[in-house]
Amino acid sequence: MILDFMRNDHRMCDHLYAEAENMLLIKESEKALTLFEKFSITTLHHFDMEEKELFITFEKRTGMMGGPTQMMRYEHQQLRSLIESMRLALRENRTDDFFGIGESFMIMLQQHNMKEEQMLYPMIDRALGSDARLMVQTLQEMVP
Ligand SMILES: [Fe+2]
Ligand SMILES: [Fe+2]
Repeated sequence: MILDFMRNDHRMCDHLYAEAENMLLIKESEKALTLFEKFSITTLHHFDMEEKELFITFEKRTGMMGGPTQMMRYEHQQLRSLIESMRLALRENRTDDFFGIGESFMIMLQQHNMKEEQMLYPMIDRALGSDARLMVQTLQEMVP
């Protein structure tokens, strides 16, 4: 199911972010930066899986173009820009800024992910029916 696969990916992104924050809290800045970059690659790849495959296929199947997928794309743009601000703060050793932006980012991301998990992914699973398995394969084959 799309829901299981994508929900797991959400959890992986959350986990990497938490690890980066932990490293920063114990002042391991190099490790924090490495983990942050991992988190950033994983999260941006997740958005790409949605925008380049999942949402497009869903829109083609249902003809729903201006609905929830459009809203999710808009939120991805806001989240991308927060990730960029976090990266800058981290590189410039502005730790308080990093935690401040990180907090807004996490609140927005959790709300975004909840909408996908509770509404959009189940809709996509229903729209794809037995092709959902094939879609998971396609998503797994995408490289970051
Ligand atoms: Fe998303
Ligand atoms: Fe997602």
